[in-house]
Amino acid sequence: MDNRPIGIMDSGIGGLTVARVLHETYPEEGIVFLGDTKRNPYGERSRDDIVRFSFAIKDFLKEHQVKMILIACNTISFNVPPAFFEEDIPVIKMSMEVKMPEDAKRFAVFATPATIATHAHKAYFQKKYPQLDFVEVPCDGLAAAIERNADENTLSALVKQAAEEYHALDADTAIWSCTHYPLIAPLIGQIMGSGTVLIDPGRETARLVKEYLSA
Ligand code: DGL
Repeated sequence: MDNRPIGIMDSGIGGLTVARVLHETYPEEGIVFLGDTKRNPYGERSRDDIVRFSFAIKDFLKEHQVKMILIACNTISFNVPPAFFEEDIPVIKMSMEVKMPEDAKRFAVFATPATIATHAHKAYFQKKYPQLDFVEVPCDGLAAAIERNADENTLSALVKQAAEEYHALDADTAIWSCTHYPLIAPLIGQIMGSGTVLIDPGRETARLVKEYLSA
């Protein structure tokens, strides 16, 4: 086994939801985690900022002698250029893989405005599930509110706003594609109601790391 730690990066505390899954799966692995709480939210920043900050975090993790880097942030994963993945150190990004419910017809992705602006999920899902309608719901302010530990009223109002958009778009299946969102999963479940599928890609992403390490 390579004893060097795994580097995990996020714009803040959301990446801990992925780090937790990774730690549960691989308790023997060391982890160096950097969450850029100072400059959060990335999801409301320009692509230039996101790219610049992400390369800086990558350098920091490399200085800490990590053996690989996991981007535990959708906003970073889909905004950095291909060069981010093409250097000497392996970099794994957030997975978009989900177990699609059989009766899904109209599928929605909830994510930060900067993730939605890339349309990365749209490209992926339209190719993979051409039979499904696909809609996007940018959640302005939600990750930032989770990051600053906003009170329940504030969080509820933001989730309700996203839920209203989701229902207005007549969608039946949802993927919550920001690593901050699982931190309020019970609240999301409560507001979205039954019949909505909440999918957290953190688990699938941890599986990709496992696959890489086993190889
Ligand atoms: N946790 C990040 C993600 O998965 C975004 C939070 C932010 O806006 O900084 O997209």
